[in-house]
Amino acid sequence: MTDILLGKAVVGAPADSEIVRDVVGRAMPELPEPAPLASHGPARIIAMCNQKGGVGKTTTTINLGACLAEYGRKVLLVDFDPQGAASVGIGVNPHELDLTIYNLIMERGVDIRDVLIPSGIENLDVLPANIDLSAAEVQLVGEVARESVLARALRPVIDDYDVILIDCQPSLGLLTVNALTAAHGVLIPLECEFFALRGVALLVETIEKVRDRLNPALEIDGILPTMYDSRTLHSREVVARVHEAFGDTLLHSIIGRTVKFPDATVAAEPITAYAPGHPGAAAYRQLARELVARGDAA
Ligand SMILES: Nc1ncnc2c1ncn2[C@@H]1O[C@H](COP(=O)(O)OP(=O)(O)O)[C@@H](O)[C@H]1O
Ligand SMILES: [Mg+2]
Repeated sequence: MTDILLGKAVVGAPADSEIVRDVVGRAMPELPEPAPLASHGPARIIAMCNQKGGVGKTTTTINLGACLAEYGRKVLLVDFDPQGAASVGIGVNPHELDLTIYNLIMERGVDIRDVLIPSGIENLDVLPANIDLSAAEVQLVGEVARESVLARALRPVIDDYDVILIDCQPSLGLLTVNALTAAHGVLIPLECEFFALRGVALLVETIEKVRDRLNPALEIDGILPTMYDSRTLHSREVVARVHEAFGDTLLHSIIGRTVKFPDATVAAEPITAYAPGHPGAAAYRQLARELVARGDAA
């Protein structure tokens, strides 16, 4: 069960030549625990992006961030969704905030260090958002260099962190374009159901436009299947289709469907704190190790 949730299937071969394969049959690479870092920064910035809602962007931001922090990486979570779900999910009360990312990007003279707050988890800080941010989308339209407002706002702390994860809102609007302009890489969480595939082509097109016009170094780090149900053929078929269409952009790691994720959100904790021994926590630790192994995270 654990192996399946981790996206591994142990193929029935003799013990001395046992090969561990992922759900599409590729041999799993070794994913060792990352070596401790002697020094920190500059950060690699990764945007969690999919214009569809409810696919696991926020869950991935919080739990990948917590796992990288567990491995000693200094991590900043950037909540860039007016819903503020990443802030709430890490224990921040959005109504008690004097300053949010809205003030940082829309007002002059706001210091990012006055806006970010420690999450209570070692090595993990958060740049919080609340509903105020919904006004920014409209207000930014008239700004000079409106697509690179977030990139400029993050610059002063880039040397303080190893990884900065941006939780995007479910749209391809100006806030998301700002996240893609600020980012080095994009991680695409994809819910394991057929209609989920439809939006990916449009998302990839948007990413390519941003690469052409605004951020030539932008890479797609990977597609992460989420809410995978090992009991259904359907989940497996969706992942196979993603592999066919996108090849090794499909990560080896997959995230199984489990109620522990919504439960952890209600508890306002990452799964690594809420249920550290659960396969869901192991799945996000594996994702963290895979990104480090691919060079997508420090
Ligand atoms: N792997 C999973 N298994 C079960 N539920 C999940 C999983 N990942 C996320 N969820 C739940 O699905 C809902 C949407 O997830 P969320 O991360 O908020 O998506 P998004 O940010 O893309 O809108 C939340 O209630 C969350 O707790
Ligand atoms: Mg979200």
